[in-house]
Amino acid sequence: MSVVYLNGQFMPAEDAKISPMDRGFLFGDGIYEVIPSYGGRCVGFAAHIQRLQQGLAALEIHCALTEQDWYELVQQLIRQNGAGNLGIYLHLSRGTDTKRAHAYPKNVPATVFAYCFEIAAEPKADVNKAPRYKVITATDLRWQRCHIKSTALLGNVMHHQQAAALGLNECILFDEQGFLTEGSSTNVFIVKEAVVITPPLSHKILPGITRQLLLSILRQHSPLKVEERPVSKDEVLGADEVWLTSSSKEIAAVIEVDGQAIGNSEPGPLWLQAQQLFSEHKYSY
Ligand code: PDD
Repeated sequence: MSVVYLNGQFMPAEDAKISPMDRGFLFGDGIYEVIPSYGGRCVGFAAHIQRLQQGLAALEIHCALTEQDWYELVQQLIRQNGAGNLGIYLHLSRGTDTKRAHAYPKNVPATVFAYCFEIAAEPKADVNKAPRYKVITATDLRWQRCHIKSTALLGNVMHHQQAAALGLNECILFDEQGFLTEGSSTNVFIVKEAVVITPPLSHKILPGITRQLLLSILRQHSPLKVEERPVSKDEVLGADEVWLTSSSKEIAAVIEVDGQAIGNSEPGPLWLQAQQLFSEHKYSY
């Protein structure tokens, strides 16, 4: 039986209840994080909490928990759930009002929820065992504030379903000008002639923590050239390698985009190098 945290208390999952008047339920009015943890060690913990706090500030949701408070809460949650390979889900909504009204209510405390779920073992830099992703492309039809990790994910969910309905793994998105934004639940990198390229941060993409760690690790620990710049669809289709990054996948090699092979349809040599470096250094940030 899993143990969850809700509004200051740890409890069995089935005892955790919130009101249908919660603004997270009514409006998707909240912020969330997913933090990977292996044997009790979290990857990018401080960066995840910083992004959470930036999201809460952007939405003017007040929460007194400090990074240390979050650390203790998460460690306790991990201990109570067996410290295996866990995704830690943190979710804060603007809280429960007495009525449904769009304006932010005053003096309503945030709803704070955390739980963990089992995830696959730590990804390994092993071409034979690496998952091979097949993706489609679509025009990005989400909102203009994708840098906020909002629980209002319907746009992402619908794009993800476009791929899932075809039995594919991800839908990668392009803005109205035809430039790459991100995947429905991942950031995207391409490799061309040994240069690692990813779109720059903007309101069009989530500032992914895996993206951030990978950029830092490549810049500090490899001689590879790394660029953050706009990427066109032709560049994606003509790339030597395409990668997806996210907390649970780390760096996932894409072998097919819109039915077209990428490279030789296998995880490429730079993917191997990047995943090796990531595995080696991910706990140092
Ligand atoms: N997804 N872009 C989007 C739209 C995402 O939802 C995610 C993460 C990422 C990668 O971010 P990070 O490296 O910080 O995990 C990029 C999470 C895991 C989810 O919604 O489950």
